[in-house]
Amino acid sequence: MTHPAVVCIASWNADLTSRVARPLAVGETVAAHGFTVSPGGKGSNAAVAAARMGADVALVARIGDDAFGQMATALWSDEGIDTQHVVRAAGQASGVAQILVYGSGDNSIAVSAGANAGLDVAHVEAARSAIAGARVVVASNEVPIAVALAAFRIARAHAVATVYNPAPAVPSSAALIELLSLCDVITPNAGELSALGGDAQSVLAMGVKAIIVTLGADGCALYRSGHAPQQFAGWPVDVVDTVGAGDTLTGALAACLASGMPLERAALYANAAAALSVTGTGALGGMPSLAQVEAMLV
Ligand code: RIB
Repeated sequence: MTHPAVVCIASWNADLTSRVARPLAVGETVAAHGFTVSPGGKGSNAAVAAARMGADVALVARIGDDAFGQMATALWSDEGIDTQHVVRAAGQASGVAQILVYGSGDNSIAVSAGANAGLDVAHVEAARSAIAGARVVVASNEVPIAVALAAFRIARAHAVATVYNPAPAVPSSAALIELLSLCDVITPNAGELSALGGDAQSVLAMGVKAIIVTLGADGCALYRSGHAPQQFAGWPVDVVDTVGAGDTLTGALAACLASGMPLERAALYANAAAALSVTGTGALGGMPSLAQVEAMLV
C-alpha cells in the first residue's frame, strides 16, 4: 500500500478578508475595500503549499457541513490532496478567520475555530497507518495540542519527520513541552519563538532539532544545536498580501524534506516559496509551484 509523503494534521478556515489602509484604533470604524471569501487555515494552507511543491499530501482535518466546508473539499480536490481522513461535522460551522489586510500588505487575523476545535485523538488514531507511513507530519496550533501530540508520538515512533508551526502562540503546558521534544523542525515567527521560551538556544534545549524563524521581508534564519545560525535573505518582491506566508514556508519545507532534500536546501526552497506567496492576494493567491520556486533559485 502506498502512503502520502506528507500528512498535515490540519485546520481549515474560510478567510473573510477586507483591505484597509492601516490598523484600526479601538472603537474606530473605517471604510474597507476588496472584500473576499477565500481558502485559509494554517493547516490547509501548509497542505496546499506542500502539494504545489510536488508532494503527495493527505489531511487529517475536521470541517463543518456548511458552504465553507464545501469550499474546503472543492479546494483539496483541485489541489490533488487526499481527504480520506477529513471528517465533516454534522450541524457544525467550519472555522472562519476574519482578516484585515493593510496597505503595507501586513495583516491582523481573528479566528473562530468552529469544527477545527472538535478534531480529536480518535481522528489521529484513525489515520495512524497514514501517519506511520509518511515521510513528514505537519501540525500547527490551530488544532488542539493533544491532537498534534498524538500525531507526533506516532511519527516519532516510526521515524517520520515532524514539522510544527507554533502559531498562533499558546501558553506553555506539559503537552506543549512534550510536543516540542518530538519536533524535528519548528517554524515560528519571532513573537512565537519568544512565547515558546525566549530565544532559539533555549528552545533547542527543549529537544527541538532545528528552528526556522520566519523574519518577514528579511527571509528566515535556521538554528540547530552545534551549528552556527544560518540566514536566508529575503527576496525583493512586490508585497500584495502576507497572509499565509509562514504556512507556505512550513508546507514547502515539509514537501522538500519529504523529497529527501537536506534541511539547509529545504530551508532555501521554503524561504523562496514564502517570498513568492506574498505576491498574490489571499493565503493561496501567490503560493507557488515547485517550478516557480526553482525558476527563482536559478
Ligand atoms: O496563517 C494564515 C492563516 O491564519 C489564514 O489563512 C487564517 O485562516 C488563519 O488561520
